[in-house]
Amino acid sequence: MEKYVIQGGRPLHGEVEISGAKNAAVAIIPAALMVHGTCRLENLPEISDTDTLLHILTYLGARVNMINRTTVEIDCTHVQMDILPERMWALTRKIRASYYLIGAMLGRFGRARTTMPGGCNFGVRPIDQHIKGLTALGADMDVSGGFITAGCPAGRLRGTTIYLDKVSVGATINIMIAAATAEGRTVIENVAREPHIVDLANFLNSMGADVRGAGTDTIKIRGVKQLHGGSYALIPDQIEAGTYMAAVAAAGGAVRVSNVIPKHLECISSKLREMAVEVEEGDDYVLVRRDGPLHRANLKTMPYPGFPTDMQPQMAAVLCCAPGNSTVTEGVWAGGRFKYVGELKKMGAQIEVEDQSAFIQGVDKLTGSVVKACDLRAGAAVVIAGLAAEGVTEVEDIIYIERGYQDLVGKFRALGADIRCVQVPEHSRSANWNAG
Ligand code: UD1
Repeated sequence: MEKYVIQGGRPLHGEVEISGAKNAAVAIIPAALMVHGTCRLENLPEISDTDTLLHILTYLGARVNMINRTTVEIDCTHVQMDILPERMWALTRKIRASYYLIGAMLGRFGRARTTMPGGCNFGVRPIDQHIKGLTALGADMDVSGGFITAGCPAGRLRGTTIYLDKVSVGATINIMIAAATAEGRTVIENVAREPHIVDLANFLNSMGADVRGAGTDTIKIRGVKQLHGGSYALIPDQIEAGTYMAAVAAAGGAVRVSNVIPKHLECISSKLREMAVEVEEGDDYVLVRRDGPLHRANLKTMPYPGFPTDMQPQMAAVLCCAPGNSTVTEGVWAGGRFKYVGELKKMGAQIEVEDQSAFIQGVDKLTGSVVKACDLRAGAAVVIAGLAAEGVTEVEDIIYIERGYQDLVGKFRALGADIRCVQVPEHSRSANWNAG
């Protein structure tokens, strides 16, 4: 077991290169199951969630060949399994995106069975819209005993019009994957518009699918018989980029955040500017600088192009250092995903949570403490707080952070941060964790 040890108070300087998008990768790898032939994926992030999915595909019979750290070739031509064997259940229960295997297996075999997915615990994470969409395509769906089972009596799914009652990234992706090889035309209305939805559509199209409208609120798919091999480079990670931008805002300094699509960062850039952080956009980079005091701000998370919920904890950590009162409102997840608040309070933050909002009173200085990563982005928030704080912060449960950030320690160290990953003997874990 490992933890991060951060000596805070050092401004960040230099350049950080952003990796491929986690949430695109975890959709595209399962979608590769639909492809007959070799599909080459470039700019894949080197994180544990993608490792887990590649392992699952290998278990299913895919040939997975790592060309280098961020390029993989996957050949699922000979995969025949449509039921995940028991030895894979622990893996599928670890991550959220394992439910995309349902859409992919249904599209490929007309049958599928996997465990209910895992992933970050933001409270209740229903999958009714996935079920609704896949049922409309002609699948019989059963969710019981911790498993999702799907079968298509007609053998092949059939295109139809589906209206999502809730804008859902996961349901949009699952239905898109399944519909890529359905018979006829599928129209999905009220879909999510996140950059990774567009990336998945581009991936499917480069493998021979006919998906249009991704990035708008209606996606139209003309089903093809089968997908063929090809090559695809993933987009950079919007949230990883935003996390480094937020870190500069909190710790101060000047950093070039490179290999990004600045358009995907607009809502984050404009919120940071409101907070007196300079953000200058280039073609594929943003320059972020903060040397004066931060300004207070309010923010509310919304589906894209609104402010991303996956940046909510990191921005709250920054606002803890901004004089005055700020309000952070969660507009995507019921329950607020505010588990990190207790950790930031250990560092001297003044935050009160009420319903879907966190009310923050900025403090002069955060102070180092022993804290834990409650989930992936909550973990990023305490790292950011640790970089800005006076003294030493120890971050436990970093396994959550490593699900989604490639080489976080190496990247921050290259920016001049004093952060190390150290081994923790099991018996020396903090009492705080044991109580949690
Ligand atoms: C994905 C991201 C997650 C991000 C979220 C919102 C991945 C692997 N995870 O999660 O990091 O926080 O998008 O940007 O890409 N909902 C329903 N019924 C459903 C599905 C969702 O009511 O069938 C609700 C959820 O409870 C939530 C909202 O819709 O309130 C958005 O969820 P969704 O967009 O589906 O999130 P995920 O795809 O799980």
